[in-house]
Amino acid sequence: MVTLTYMPTDHVPVLAAEVIRETDPRPGETVIDCTFGGGGHARLLAERIGVAGTLIGIDRDPAAADRFEQVAAEAPCEMRFLRADFDSALAELVAEGVEPDVVLFDFGVSSMQIDAWERGFSYSFDAPLDMRMDPDAGLSARMVVNEWPESRIAEALRNYADERHARSIARRIVERRPLTTTAELVEAVRDGLPPSARFGRGNPAKRTFQAIRIAVNRELEAIDAALPEAWEMLAPGGRLAAISFHSLEDRRVKRFLADRARGCVCPPELPVCRCGLEPEAKLLTRGGLVPSPGELAENPRSASARLRVARKLGGVEG
Ligand SMILES: C[S@@+](CC[C@H](N)C(=O)[O-])C[C@H]1O[C@@H](n2cnc3c(N)ncnc32)[C@H](O)[C@@H]1O
Repeated sequence: MVTLTYMPTDHVPVLAAEVIRETDPRPGETVIDCTFGGGGHARLLAERIGVAGTLIGIDRDPAAADRFEQVAAEAPCEMRFLRADFDSALAELVAEGVEPDVVLFDFGVSSMQIDAWERGFSYSFDAPLDMRMDPDAGLSARMVVNEWPESRIAEALRNYADERHARSIARRIVERRPLTTTAELVEAVRDGLPPSARFGRGNPAKRTFQAIRIAVNRELEAIDAALPEAWEMLAPGGRLAAISFHSLEDRRVKRFLADRARGCVCPPELPVCRCGLEPEAKLLTRGGLVPSPGELAENPRSASARLRVARKLGGVEG
């Protein structure tokens, strides 16, 4: 039974009990939280690894760096923070020879980021078009909507959010340039939709905002680069956990872990294995774990979350 005693943060950690149960951090272990955010998961992990453990937090957002100072002041273990993209931060830690026992990813944006209206992540507030998790990064939402060719915007809406009306929304965005605020973008999206799609469940701009945010923050490229790094550096017996919020993220995690768990890649028609590859991973959450009805009722933002965890074979537990 996992007891949840985290301090109040603005971001409620999703699937927190499941993360702790499945990664099972032990006293003295080293944990990397690649998406520190409000530090909700980190605090629980820190409690588990205790005084002899080390927790390394990573986040590209300076607001997370501020939060880290508060969490570190109360944590029992050694704490360290890297403000960087998780792919480059992991490469730095590999170069230092860090060999973690647990690596956690909790993809996407935090509630702190969504609720900071001035950062432009939300279609519910009128704000400058920004959406950068790292405010020092070069590309902003304003640049995407005002500078990208119409075809590239449409492609992003299709690829990153399955937007059926990608072409007409992209056309309207280009016609309405220059766009400077989130409200102007919401209006352009509405105009680009057929009347039947303007009203219905949820805000019709939701998918466009998701797609532009993913493009601005190179979210999928970062995941593709970081998963192999995290897996390589993990100690034998180490656990890799990832929480996804949409199918583009989850598909990557699922495939990545399934490939490591499969081992042999020979075509099924071959009578004997020729590749000689052995499984490197044991899947601990086949199919993934989703929030319980209780968590959904308490934290509706957890609705689309799915947790996958795998153990790297080769430790004492094989
Ligand atoms: C869903 S929140 C994590 C919340 C955290 N687990 C908690 O309990 O408070 C995701 C965080 O990851 C960060 N992030 C997303 N992609 C990142 C990347 N490629 N590199 C570094 N940080 C990233 C975001 O800035 C955000 O703070």
